[in-house]
Amino acid sequence: MQTLTLIRPDDWHLHLRDGDAMKAVLPDTARRFGRAIVMPNLKPPVRTVAEAGEYRQRILAALPADISFEPLMTLYLTDVTPPEEIVRVKESGFVKALKLYPAGATTNSDAGVTDFDKVIPTLRVMAELGVPLLVHGEVTDPSVDVFDREAVFIDRVMRPLLDKLPSLKVVFEHITTKQAANFVWSAGENVAATITAHHLLMNRNAIFAGGIRPHHYCLPVLKREIHREALVEVATSGNPKFFLGTDSAPHAQSTKEAACGCAGMYTANNGIELYAEAFESAGALDRLEGFASRHGPLFYGLPANSDSITLVKEATEVPASLHYLPNDPLVPLRAGETVGWRLRS
Ligand code: NCD
Ligand code: ZN
Repeated sequence: MQTLTLIRPDDWHLHLRDGDAMKAVLPDTARRFGRAIVMPNLKPPVRTVAEAGEYRQRILAALPADISFEPLMTLYLTDVTPPEEIVRVKESGFVKALKLYPAGATTNSDAGVTDFDKVIPTLRVMAELGVPLLVHGEVTDPSVDVFDREAVFIDRVMRPLLDKLPSLKVVFEHITTKQAANFVWSAGENVAATITAHHLLMNRNAIFAGGIRPHHYCLPVLKREIHREALVEVATSGNPKFFLGTDSAPHAQSTKEAACGCAGMYTANNGIELYAEAFESAGALDRLEGFASRHGPLFYGLPANSDSITLVKEATEVPASLHYLPNDPLVPLRAGETVGWRLRS
């Protein structure tokens, strides 16, 4: 039986939600990953170090007793995040980054940035103190085609921002296009990217396979095959600018299977197994450890985890649904199908 042992990976982009939902999903991540960058898009969003500290305590309190897992917190950047908050971030030790959502770009992003000029003084302090900015890189201009919003963001926002603040540490989150892959590849060392497993495994045909597939709808939306291929190429290249971020984004079944369904795929229950599949298909299993366990800590200035996990190559069934909210379950990616690897417990 083929096995694969890796330094324990980390998830550099994760939605844990809060309350009952968080309690339901947290063990899936904590069993696989040593740490995760926890997204701040709660309702209301996590905007201050004090709020992040309380959220962190709720996560730690919900952890199963036998699992050690470190939530790495983020703040939601708004038009009015004061530069002084960045000093508190640096002092806290547990807040690792700020998240930039253009207002209206995705789930719970109404409080996001409406005018990039307004946040420059705060970003300047981030650049000075080495606090990374995690960017949801899509323009919200309704006249721009949904499939082009990431590529347009590079020219309209990303390049001008880095021209103004060339030393700012930036993670271009969940990249989905060859334009973003090329941009990050050629940018300075301070610019990196996370890539999800679902964008490595699927192209946009998956949204319409035999009918409309709400569980394949996420933001940024799946793209054409040429883009998927470009993502696989950079993820498996060994270039340390690219690392694992699942963007596992749970939404209850009733809110996905609806006339206006929410964006987000739930992948945390196979959070590393799906990447093993993608890397195996590319003939690059030997590159998975760098992508999943080494490159992220390097960018964030943290040590790699000191323990390991083992994956077994074995087709494993994915449940049709998982417990989430009372009377409203969660449908994971590949529900009722199989994934090619399983985590040895
Ligand atoms: C995320 C969510 O549901 O919070 N959804 C998604 O499709 N990825 C938000 C996000 O990361 O854009
Ligand atoms: Zn996300």
